[in-house]
Amino acid sequence: MKNTLYIDKIVCGDALQILPQLEKHSVDVVLTDPPYFLDKLDDNWDYEKVSKTHHQYTIKSLPAGMKFDRKQGKRFYDWYFTVSQELYRILKPGGFFFSFSSPRLYHRMASAIDDAGFELRDVFIWLYTQNQAKAMSVDHFIRKMNVDDKTKERIRQNLSGWKTPQIKSCFEPIAMAQKPTDGTYLNNMLTYEAGLMNTNIRIGDNMYPANVFSVDNINELIDKTFLLPKPAAKEKGGYNDHKTVKPLAICEYLIALSAFCKDAVILDPFAGSGTTAVAAKKLGKHYIGIDANEKHVAIAEQRLAEQEIKKTR
Ligand SMILES: C[S@@+](CC[C@H](N)C(=O)[O-])C[C@H]1O[C@@H](n2cnc3c(N)ncnc32)[C@H](O)[C@@H]1O
Repeated sequence: MKNTLYIDKIVCGDALQILPQLEKHSVDVVLTDPPYFLDKLDDNWDYEKVSKTHHQYTIKSLPAGMKFDRKQGKRFYDWYFTVSQELYRILKPGGFFFSFSSPRLYHRMASAIDDAGFELRDVFIWLYTQNQAKAMSVDHFIRKMNVDDKTKERIRQNLSGWKTPQIKSCFEPIAMAQKPTDGTYLNNMLTYEAGLMNTNIRIGDNMYPANVFSVDNINELIDKTFLLPKPAAKEKGGYNDHKTVKPLAICEYLIALSAFCKDAVILDPFAGSGTTAVAAKKLGKHYIGIDANEKHVAIAEQRLAEQEIKKTR
């Protein structure tokens, strides 16, 4: 087996330093949820430390409602283009690359993946109903205006309900890209055991796999067509304080759709608390995880150890 040093491990380090050590054509599926550098992500992320790391960009805090740093998207693109070039080399021909994104940054992510040589096959929509609206009122700016109180009140009433341009975000896009196949799909599948999708997988009420899903009950029609199993209450582990843990069912769905090979290797270069690795292990596949934060690596390892216990029960 290739990548013996890394197989079934969560490695602590910068993805851009570890990825070059992985062998060409050695991974079946990449499923990842990269940092977007739109906020400091969590309290364990030491800004001073992270901002000095090569190829790493972050800002100290969330941009205030009306500020919009146009450089962020471009920086993300440059960084993710380099990451995607490495992933392109490592993936088998026909191998799939799924990348969680955000509505605001999807265009940069998709372009980086596309420009690295992947074929963008589709985009999944993860639909949800609960999220906090981030729009801000402009009342405090009105209060500071150099006009009399009557004018302030008139402006305030006129603009009642009008806020900074951030509507409630209720979906997350997930790019579905594929490394081009070597010859026909059939030839590629017979040579590399990769490149076709598993349409035996079901979603909702025994429905054909779709590019929309939810893990929340929304309404009868949506649930019937797009519902994945709800995350179990203790799914992520009580000790897991990672801020952006993904539902296991989503990772399982994407891996089951795309990993044919019995010994398939699923790579997550930004593993966080290890959801992709746990899903791979649950499905009897191999995994390689990378995360720059040692606390996240420890959480992922604990989740994987618990998955091992569940398997042997
Ligand atoms: C959005 S989180 C992933 C969460 C994961 N999907 C889960 O379910 O727990 C992104 C992760 O990337 C890690 N990270 C940030 N920069 C990195 C880098 N250059 N190399 C490797 N990991 C990095 C962060 O520590 C963070 O845990």
